[in-house]
Amino acid sequence: MIIGDLHIERPVILAPMEDVTDRSFRKICKRFGADIVYTEFISAEALRRGVEKTVQKMLFEDYERPAVIQIFGNTEEAMAEAAVIAASYRPDYLDINFGCPAKKVAGKGAGAALLREPEKMARIAASVVNAVSVPVTVKTRIGWDRESINILDIVPRLEDAGIQAIAVHGRTRSEMYKGTADWDWIARVKERARIPVIANGDIWSPDDAKAMFEHTAADGIMIGRGAIGNPFIFKQVKEMLKTGVVATKVDFRDRIAVAIEHLSLSVKNKGEKYGTLEMRRHYATYLKGLPRVSRVRDKLVREDNWLHVIEILRDYEAECEQYAREGKIREYAEYLNDHSRRLILK
Ligand SMILES: Cc1cc2nc3c(=O)[nH]c(=O)nc-3n(C[C@H](O)[C@H](O)[C@H](O)COP(=O)(O)O)c2cc1C
Repeated sequence: MIIGDLHIERPVILAPMEDVTDRSFRKICKRFGADIVYTEFISAEALRRGVEKTVQKMLFEDYERPAVIQIFGNTEEAMAEAAVIAASYRPDYLDINFGCPAKKVAGKGAGAALLREPEKMARIAASVVNAVSVPVTVKTRIGWDRESINILDIVPRLEDAGIQAIAVHGRTRSEMYKGTADWDWIARVKERARIPVIANGDIWSPDDAKAMFEHTAADGIMIGRGAIGNPFIFKQVKEMLKTGVVATKVDFRDRIAVAIEHLSLSVKNKGEKYGTLEMRRHYATYLKGLPRVSRVRDKLVREDNWLHVIEILRDYEAECEQYAREGKIREYAEYLNDHSRRLILK
């Protein structure tokens, strides 16, 4: 896949996720092999006003490269101005969010709302492209709803606007995150597009990743929810794509160790209070499928002292050692087998 000076063969990309893909999580995903990472989405309006929290979200470190800043907004002026500010932080490329279905974004005419205004979408894309010298890409969905799927109309408009790659989440805005992503539409986009296509939606396992490449012939793939609590997926997907088998096995020890690492990074980057607080949403996924976990989860999300959180996690790890000796551990790989796309389709 070529975007500007960037050449990466079949990249496996961490999707942008608000409140998830902060510096701490990106660092961990990078370590496990994510080829490209995206920031959380950044509001153009907030950026123009210099809102400190928004500016913080744009910061990344050199080891994260290639790193992408994603912006969203509803006017050409705001987006061009925000693009100039974002570009000054020297991302490898800038991405425009034309896919967010949330009310606070789409309800204000930004994100997925622009799927209903293809001309305006193209004008915004052109205004961003013309404002900066870094490459500009787009991430979007296949349409507003099933009755108005228009991604094939949108892609050439974006190409003409100078967009250099497009990431497609195979759902409509109305579908939010429900049902199964429609990979057929991504394949259709790939057949017609002149720019690289990044396929996104429902990659939960290495098998799914392989199937996504095969089904869509996309230039790259992007993983979102499948990486939450499971950053190991990048390593496993790379192994699968390279050799056809997954050598890396992940057990509860690995998962608890990464949860602790994640918490430590979070505290380092955001301070004790917010670092501990913001980690709360991650424990459920790190510990998913492990025995008698709900009691532990309840304790974890009530604890304010991050060192006590680590103690709780270590105690639980010792408990899991006992479960393992008794053969009671059902590992995440098995859990995923029940949830992966392959099985959903069967
Ligand atoms: C918690 C959460 C936050 C998200 N935030 C963003 C965002 O900031 N920008 C964006 O383009 N997409 C965002 N998305 C959508 C994901 O990038 C991705 O397109 C979607 O989750 C489908 O991929 P998946 O099935 O691999 O999760 C978010 C999704 C989730 C679950």
